[in-house]
Amino acid sequence: MYPLHRPRRLRTTPAMRRLVSETDVRPRQLVLPMFVKEGLTEPAAIGSMPGVLQHSRDSLRKAAVEAVQAGVGGIMLFGVPAERDAVGSGATDPDGILNVALADLRSELGDSTVLMSDCCLDEFTDHGHCGVLAADGTVDNDATLELYGEMAVAQARAGAHVVGPSGMMDGQIGFIRSALDEAGLQDTGILAYSVKYASAFFGPFRDAVESQLVGDRKTYQQDPANGREAIREVQLDLAEGADMVMVKPALLYLDVLKTVAEISDVPVAAYQISGEYAMIEAAAANGWIDRERSILESLTAIRRAGADIVLTYWAVEAARWLDR
Ligand code: PBG
Repeated sequence: MYPLHRPRRLRTTPAMRRLVSETDVRPRQLVLPMFVKEGLTEPAAIGSMPGVLQHSRDSLRKAAVEAVQAGVGGIMLFGVPAERDAVGSGATDPDGILNVALADLRSELGDSTVLMSDCCLDEFTDHGHCGVLAADGTVDNDATLELYGEMAVAQARAGAHVVGPSGMMDGQIGFIRSALDEAGLQDTGILAYSVKYASAFFGPFRDAVESQLVGDRKTYQQDPANGREAIREVQLDLAEGADMVMVKPALLYLDVLKTVAEISDVPVAAYQISGEYAMIEAAAANGWIDRERSILESLTAIRRAGADIVLTYWAVEAARWLDR
């Protein structure tokens, strides 16, 4: 009798497929990135990210409550300031948009969700780089660390449970950990964007935060050609005290994600970034792929590769589907 082995047996019925499914995506594993823009009275659409909004402080509050009700595991907040300068003053100012919006959300949501904040200068600098510039125009690593420390403390004081350093400066996790501890903020966690590639797929996000960047981030974000380097970045961040580590982007870097999941002894997150969102939305809008199936398949793939937590702009919608 041939074939002797029939793997299709385990695919015969929906009940059988459900029984043998290896990977679940649960709402609690999804984190919703959100944008809040200073001075807005009404939420504004983002052209390259259909369905995602720049929020006003008011609309942010309401949308965050809805996200928590939908069961998402957390929120990652980004701020879009009205004014920018060379050192990103809005980032460290307790009255800066990101910090006041964090305070709004913490008072609205308390501890009912995990409130996270992007700890990076790029939205706040007039040159759009993730750090401050030295006289020769290069990004000054160690001067930037001082500002990240202040920024993390301001965000934690405003109400962030977890800060998310995404600027890829060397030593940022250890520096921020010390700054938080010295300020008596030992319980504030750090989600380290440990592995972050200089990706073309961040394009739509730069619209979302109205990035002023000219050029690229190749002197601090990783070369897409390098996988081994990811191991080093993760090991350094773990040694410096990261509570969770992240790989970003997600879909094009599932091999890297899998490696990181194997070596990490803390929870691993993956960020399904703006370009991943935009590609699926655009293809679905053209009727070229099935939107819901594509989204759920992409989330499943990221989980299967080893992510415990997935940051995704579809978090609320996916949570509702997954709850059915
Ligand atoms: C930097 C930051 C970026 C993203 C998250 N944090 C942009 C960048 O590095 O250029 C990208 C997220 C996305 O594309 O969805 N603060």
